[in-house]
Order: sequence, then structure tokens, then C-alpha cells
Amino acid sequence: MLKFNYYSPTRIVFGAGTVNEIGTLIREFKVKKVAVVFGGNSAKKSGLLDIVEDRLKSEGIDVILLGGVVPNPLLSKAKEMTKEAVKFGAEFVLAVGGGSVIDTAKFVAIGVASPDTDIEEFFFQRKKVEKSLPIGTVLTIAAAGSETSDSAVLTDDVTGTHIKKGITTDYNRCKFAIMDPELTYTLPKYQIGAGVADIFMHTSERYFTDILGNHLTDEMAEGLFRDIIKFGPIGVKSPTDYEAMSEIMWCGSVSHIGLTGLGAKGDTPRDGDWSCHQLGMAISALFDSTHGATLSAIWASWANYVKDANIQRFAEFARKVYGTDEADDEKCANKGIEKTVEFFESVGMPVNLHDLLNRDVSEKDCEELAINCSYKKSRSIGSFKSLSYDDMYNIYM
Ligand code: NZQ
Ligand code: ZN
Repeated sequence: MLKFNYYSPTRIVFGAGTVNEIGTLIREFKVKKVAVVFGGNSAKKSGLLDIVEDRLKSEGIDVILLGGVVPNPLLSKAKEMTKEAVKFGAEFVLAVGGGSVIDTAKFVAIGVASPDTDIEEFFFQRKKVEKSLPIGTVLTIAAAGSETSDSAVLTDDVTGTHIKKGITTDYNRCKFAIMDPELTYTLPKYQIGAGVADIFMHTSERYFTDILGNHLTDEMAEGLFRDIIKFGPIGVKSPTDYEAMSEIMWCGSVSHIGLTGLGAKGDTPRDGDWSCHQLGMAISALFDSTHGATLSAIWASWANYVKDANIQRFAEFARKVYGTDEADDEKCANKGIEKTVEFFESVGMPVNLHDLLNRDVSEKDCEELAINCSYKKSRSIGSFKSLSYDDMYNIYM
């Protein structure tokens, strides 16, 4: 096997009713002041926020509720919340929500630990993150995998770049994640579908890589693909099906916990290609589209553009994931791409930019997207096949 260095310190408390364990879990940290970060109205409406507040208060903990995180969360909101959390004297940050809320909470935790530094210094990686408050999560949507990941993604609406990007650091690791599938029963079907697409993509981005050799890594990825392909459509059809929603929820974490990216070539970790995420983040930055939907919209165009870099890999994907019985690698690869498009459609997700934006896509749109994604032609992306500004434009087109 190739070498790797794996770290994943998040305690995962999984199953129906586990939300009630929040008090016991937080007790361990011996904190008296907790900043609870949440999004729009969903956690209030479902009564979840009341439950969380009640459990914390019964532990003798003071709580400040910091709400209003939007999907495609903003740097300005994280800054505003950081100021309030500093004033309050927060010692712990608890995220109640999905990826947008958790990522904002991660920045708040970093910001509160370094109150004299603007958080954009960390966002633009001009300063290295060297401390953070402890963070915990009560997860309400299976999608981003932020509950166990080391990254946090925001859109810069502070300095005018309008770039959506992430920072990666072990300080972004949650101390615990409560994963109670019943909390996801109130999700709109579109959000379940977008979450399913994102989960698929967290495995895909690591599977289509130029660093190969760890068979167990591949077997785990192929198992994840098969599981999310099986249970994703069931969850979208029946959002209160415990079996489906719990499988989707666990797939969400395992897809982004790093296990499917193990292995390194020299000092370069396999980690993944992440082109579709980079292409998708530019779409979200310019059009405020839902993250998972941007990924399904771009995947087939990306796959057809890059497949010749390693057609055997795409053929193996089709054989192992969809059971495609086709001896010719190219034909087999194409079948795997078609099957994946059908899968995205089965969870109600767009499979091209036209469907995502619900209108014709012009050359000007694609230029703007490629400019945003290439940071004004100053970077290329991807490793399975490296993509320049022109490649990005062609994939969007
Ligand atoms: O704001 P509220 O009212 O809570 O509504 C949310 C939001 O509108 C709603 N929702 C969440 N749980 C619900 C619910 N509605 C009803 N019932 C519930 N139980 O769902 C909507 C989407 O929420 P959001 O948090 O944006 O979803 P998701 O978890 O998909 O997160 C997406 C964000 O995560 C980033 C994405 O870029 C995007 O900004 N990512 C973060 C990653 C990471 N930190 O590791 C990796 C990912 O690749 C991704 O980039
Ligand atoms: Zn993602």
C-alpha cells in the first residue's frame, strides 16, 4: 500500500434520539458560555433550537443564539457573529444545521480565538490558523460532510473578490457530531437531492485521481458509490424513511472524512482532484446556486472532457459501481457516465448548466465563470487532468 497519515478526531454520536445527548457531550468541555450558530428558520420551526437551548441551560450553560447563516454562507456574516461571540465571551461554538452553518461556526471559532485578527486574514491564508475554540455539531442535513471534515467554505463579500473558497486545517475538526437522521425528516426534497449529489461527488473527486494503488481505498469508495446510488433516490422519494435517511447521513460523513483519499505519491497525498468542486464553487459564487446542484450540473461535461487521461479508470468505475458488463474500456466508460447522469436525474438534480440556471447559457456566462474559477487566469485546477482557463471555459460551455 502507499503511505498515508490519517487523522480524524471527531466523536460521532449516531442514531434516532441522539440529539438528547447534547448536554452530556458538552459537559466534558467544562465550559460555561456557548455560542450556538444556526441558519434560517428550519431549526426554529422544527423545535430543534429550543431542545438544544434547553439541554445546554439545564447544564448551567449560558447561551447566545447567532442565527441567519444563508446557504453559500458569507464571510461578512462570520465576521459579524465573531464580534458578538467575542463580546459574549464564548468558550465553545455549537453549530446547529448543515454545511453552511458548520462552516460559519468554524470561522467564528477561529475568529474568537484570535480576536485581534480580522478573519479575512485566515480566509485568504495570509495568516496561518494556530488556534480555535472547540466546535461541536448537531447535523440537520446530510450533504457537505463538514461535521467531520477539516475544511470550511465561505464566499468573500467583504473585500470584493466574490470568490467562494475553503480553508483546510485540523482546527476545523469538530470535537463531536450528533447525527440523528430523524432531524433530516423536514428537509425539502431538492435539498435531499443536492445533498446526495454532494456526497457522491466527495467520493468521485477522490476516486478520479492520478495517485492510485491502495485497493482498500478504492473498495471503500466503490461501496460508498453503490450505497448512495441505492439509498439516495429512496430518501428523495420518502424523506421520512429512516433506513434511507440514516444510510445517506452516514455516507455523507464517510465520503468526506478522508478515508477514500488515503495514499500518497512521495509527499503528495492522493487526497483528490476537486475540479468539479472548484468549477461548482464559481457557479455558486456568481449565481448563488445550491452546492450539490452545481456539481451534478458540471460532472458529465467534466467527465467527458477528462476521461481520456485514464479511460481504464472510468471503465473500472462503471464495472465496479454499476456492474457494467462491457469488455471495451471506452464503451464501458461511456456507459458509466450515462448511468451517473441517470442517477443524478433520479434524485431530481440538474445534469447541465442550462437545467441548473433554467435558461440558455451564453459565451459571456462561461467566460465569467472561467475567470472566477481561474482566479482571473492566475491558476489551473485538477490533477487527474490539469485544467487551465481555456479548459474551464470549454467544460462550462
Ligand atoms: O437555513 P435553514 O433554514 O436551516 O435551511 C437550510 C438551507 O436552506 C435547509 N435545511 C437544513 N437542514 C434542514 C433544512 N431545512 C429543513 N429541515 C432541515 N432539517 O437546507 C438548506 C441548505 O443548507 P446548507 O447548510 O447550505 O446545506 P449543505 O449541508 O449542503 O451545505 C452546503 C455548504 O457547504 C459547503 C458548500 O460549498 C456550501 O456552502 N461545503 C462544505 C464542505 C466542508 N466544510 O467540508 C465541503 C463541501 O464540498 C461543500 O463545499
Ligand atoms: Zn461538496
